[in-house]
Amino acid sequence: MNILIVGAGGREHALAWKISQSPLLGKLYIAPGNGGTALHGTNVAINDNDIDGIVAFARDNEIGLVVAGPELPLVLGLKEALDAVRIPCFGPCAFAAQLEGSKAFAKNMMRETGVPTADFRVFDTYETALAYVRTQPLPMVIKADGLAAGKGVVIAQTMAEAEDALKDMMLDMVFGEAGMTVVVEEALVGEEASFLAFCDGTTVVPMPSLQDHKRVGDGDTGLNTGGMGAYSPAPVLPQEQYAAMADLAIKPITEHLASIGQPFKGVLYAGLMMTARGPMVLEYNVRFGDPECQPLMARLKSDLIETMMACVQGKLDPAQVVFHEETSCCVVMAAKGYPQSYPKGMVITGIDEAEKVETVTVFQAGTRLQDGHTVSCGGRVLGVTALGADLQEARQRAYRAVEKISYENSYYRTDIAVKGLRRT
Ligand code: AMP
Ligand code: GLY
Repeated sequence: MNILIVGAGGREHALAWKISQSPLLGKLYIAPGNGGTALHGTNVAINDNDIDGIVAFARDNEIGLVVAGPELPLVLGLKEALDAVRIPCFGPCAFAAQLEGSKAFAKNMMRETGVPTADFRVFDTYETALAYVRTQPLPMVIKADGLAAGKGVVIAQTMAEAEDALKDMMLDMVFGEAGMTVVVEEALVGEEASFLAFCDGTTVVPMPSLQDHKRVGDGDTGLNTGGMGAYSPAPVLPQEQYAAMADLAIKPITEHLASIGQPFKGVLYAGLMMTARGPMVLEYNVRFGDPECQPLMARLKSDLIETMMACVQGKLDPAQVVFHEETSCCVVMAAKGYPQSYPKGMVITGIDEAEKVETVTVFQAGTRLQDGHTVSCGGRVLGVTALGADLQEARQRAYRAVEKISYENSYYRTDIAVKGLRRT
């Protein structure tokens, strides 16, 4: 079967790496891909928001499955557009993709289906939002409703910060239309964890737990990023809480969507906060996380194409999805300055040496091939991923491999998985 992966990050390299190991694969294409995906298939110059371009390519190249990496094409209706030409799409319909595309939609569905989440209210006029905010305790969380490249969440410690956030979003429109509606919610306290599941519309198959590292600096300091590293499993989610998580965070949503004729097929990702009141859902993503996909693919033992096709066809069998027992750890190497402005075009050396470290795979994110060299072209450059008998071993291998890689202005956190180690 020919497969087209949509996206250009470390997640898409990890998907391409795993899919390319399947005996079911014919030709593999990635739109637009990166320097890493080019090792496993053919990159095609079509962007993730070009729905017509993706559909035309899929039709012309006898694609049997389109795999959506990021959320944007799903929110824009990729699945419906592919349905119209009878090409299967791994990823939910546009209606269900609003779980990620609209925070108000997600919060309302959580409230309706009884998923534990921070108390909240939704506003679409500045004056009413401001009046409400002025009555609320601090800290409080203000979120732009729509997609804002991970930047639309403000945790206001002072009333001035809360009022500024509302003004930025609703009056100055710094996130465009995404900020015309805002969610004002209670600030939760706790450690974060990630819980992802394959879904076929009715059956839910959980993946192992994970923890991401969203802040740019060691000790969870500095700006929020797309994620600076992740490991799996995450001890912050102990076995009994993990076992209950599908019922708590995933099935209420998938059952509701099925009951209204909008079955969720793909990966549903619940971002959790482990609070004193128990695990609560902060947000949903309608896709694999990046970098969470990298440590998950390192652990996935069974065939990914088979599982993805089973999701699309409504035939998902829990026995079919098998993960290695080992722990995995991914350290993101970035460019100094990320997530703000950063240099590009640095020549990367040492990837081959890094991959000689036992169990290590270097997934590429913001890279491209130029005159036979791998050069950087994004803020997150590589995701160095290792397996180990335990977290300590996986982490040590990942960092040993990181030290073999060099490029100008490289930056990485030195404390990925340290929170997990403290718990073990
Ligand atoms: P979201 O995009 O909704 O996941 O928010 C991005 C990040 O903001 C989360 O990963 C949390 O670190 C933080 N966050 C979101 N909502 C809350 C909340 N209600 N209380 C505390 N932190 C939050
Ligand atoms: N690493 C966070 C995300 O993919 O949403």
